[in-house]
Amino acid sequence: MKRNTARGPFHRLHKRIWNLSRFLRKTLWFMLRTGAPWPLVARNFVDGFAREAIEREHFDAKAAFVAEIETLDFSGRWFVDHVPMWLSVVRDTGLDRRERVEALEIGSWEGMSSLFLLDTLPQARLTCVDTWGGGDEHHDAEHGVVAEMSRVEARFDANNAAHAGRIVKFKGYSRDYFVAHRDRERFDFIYVDGSHFADDVVHDAFDAFAALKVGGVMIFDDYLWRYYSDPLDNPASAVAALVRIKAGSCRILRAYQQVVLVKTGTGHSEPRG
Ligand SMILES: C[S@@+](CC[C@H](N)C(=O)[O-])C[C@H]1O[C@@H](n2cnc3c(N)ncnc32)[C@H](O)[C@@H]1O
Repeated sequence: MKRNTARGPFHRLHKRIWNLSRFLRKTLWFMLRTGAPWPLVARNFVDGFAREAIEREHFDAKAAFVAEIETLDFSGRWFVDHVPMWLSVVRDTGLDRRERVEALEIGSWEGMSSLFLLDTLPQARLTCVDTWGGGDEHHDAEHGVVAEMSRVEARFDANNAAHAGRIVKFKGYSRDYFVAHRDRERFDFIYVDGSHFADDVVHDAFDAFAALKVGGVMIFDDYLWRYYSDPLDNPASAVAALVRIKAGSCRILRAYQQVVLVKTGTGHSEPRG
């Protein structure tokens, strides 16, 4: 794949002005409506500019991943746009330098994000939690996402066959997974990409935060997704609630289509006595 070198300073300036006006018109309103605290707003604003450089830096790695998935069986490829940002997070948090990585994924679908994580971190073991029954959006003809659900889990298995020994599957609802696995601070990395209905995302967010080690990394997908008509029903309001309540024990590392947090404290203070 060829790198586009024709884009000069004028193009970049134009893109920045466009990003700024879009941020003010759409994103800022939505973030405030869903309760985003100011540090999250600021991070989203700054990362709108940083994104281009991250994408340029990891252009070749993204192309290599695209070539890999073309040999496999995926019905869509939404995840590939996150590859540059994930690579920058892996490097900046030193996940690639940890001897062992225990990872958890809430929502695996056909296994594209699982594949990328296991390709990128050969020392990782990944627990994949999914009903393999789809979320609201996968049963919604109006939004054109109705999928052949019967084939989704088989695709997940086939696409990750090379990494099968490093995957533990939990087939069921994420709430049931967390009820059955109460072990706190077990994971180095958690990806939250299951149900996108805020009530479910709130549960996933707080349960996942408790299950994350101090120093661990957590990524939320579709932070700015507006699927439900009431803004508060979308993932953004759940992410905002977590970031507000755990403000003293997490750091916002990135925020644009996805929000990346690093856990800096247990998030559970002692009684005042
Ligand atoms: C957007 S897809 C995941 C995509 C995947 N992370 C990727 O990037 O390749 C969301 C998945 O979450 C699953 N899901 C939806 N609600 C769930 C719930 N409450 N518990 C567990 N899985 C759920 C769906 O079956 C679907 O496979």
